[in-house]
Amino acid sequence: MNTINIYHYVVFIILNVTVQTKSEKCEKTSQNGPCSTNNKINRKWKQNAITVGGGHGRGQQLNQLNLTQGIFIDKNKNIFIADSWNDRIVEWKYDAKEGQIIAGGNGQGYRMDQLSYPTDFIVDQQNHSIIIADYDNKRVIQWLNQKQQILIQNIDCSGLAMDKNGFLYVSGGYKNEVRRWKMGEYNNEGIVVAGANGEGDQLNQFHYPTFIFVDEDQSVYVTDQDNHRVMKWRKDAKEGIVVAGGNGKGENLNQLSHPGGVIVDDLGEIYVADCWNHRVMRWCEGKEEGELIVGGNGKGSQLNQLYYPRGLSFDDKGNLYVADQRNDRIEKFERLF
Ligand SMILES: *[C@@H]1O[C@H](CO)[C@@H](O)[C@H](O)[C@H]1NC(C)=O
Ligand SMILES: *[C@@H]1O[C@H](CO)[C@@H](O)[C@H](O)[C@H]1NC(C)=O
Repeated sequence: MNTINIYHYVVFIILNVTVQTKSEKCEKTSQNGPCSTNNKINRKWKQNAITVGGGHGRGQQLNQLNLTQGIFIDKNKNIFIADSWNDRIVEWKYDAKEGQIIAGGNGQGYRMDQLSYPTDFIVDQQNHSIIIADYDNKRVIQWLNQKQQILIQNIDCSGLAMDKNGFLYVSGGYKNEVRRWKMGEYNNEGIVVAGANGEGDQLNQFHYPTFIFVDEDQSVYVTDQDNHRVMKWRKDAKEGIVVAGGNGKGENLNQLSHPGGVIVDDLGEIYVADCWNHRVMRWCEGKEEGELIVGGNGKGSQLNQLYYPRGLSFDDKGNLYVADQRNDRIEKFERLF
């Protein structure tokens, strides 16, 4: 064997070892969720918020809100808000002093141009259509340029989500389930993707599911409000796994109290509006407890306080927006790093 051959042999061994280590890491990732192997990245936010919507007391003026639910921030930092008790969806353009009504706002009722306690919605950024969980009217309705179309009738709907393939997911609080519809094919009962095993606290059950989030793998994260936990149902799973809370109602770091909005970032970290604890928590799948992100300073209206936080959203810079329900305002927490 000459020196060149030996050299090749050594290189070959090194390459082999590298490949093996990589595949071990991958296995670990899929078991515990990606964030547990990514703990070097620890995103943080300023603890004092900027009020970017509402903040002028409860009421129905354009600069006011009345019990906010789901929120969404588009790529231009415009803020969309389910202004639930005002029976409307409003948009606060970036830096605006007041909102504009983009759906509802015609009083509470069942007419096509009315909404009744909308809880959540999806904005299609391409054509500005908006799909709304018209909660009290028990329908999912689409608004496009002030024209309405009912997509799904007689449905118990609280949370909405859409995956990258355009499947529409709807959670039903009283039915304790999440169903899914193919885009454009709404004239059927959909298929169950989570729950539908009655009310309870088993892994295949819910007790009043509300907000939902769907990730790249079509796993569905479901806020299981009255079980004080967040469940993750992988695609085609028969039961979920607890990814946040699940240790009874309480304010320890391993507990939640009537959680609201849930979103998952690109690292797989799970952000939960811990509503009755007036804080936002971050959980990583497989961890025993969560971390406090913002709030947690008692209920109140200071800028480092929340008062029943509900909807959550990130903008494209990673700033965190919180629908601060009892303060009737939208808080923006700026990302530090
Ligand atoms: C807020 O909405 C509720 C329910 O629609 C209504 O009863 C209440 O009067 C509203 N409050 C204000 C200040 O507009
Ligand atoms: C708007 O976009 C949605 C989702 O992509 C689609 O279902 C709908 O048909 C579009 N509407 C128009 C008028 O293009």
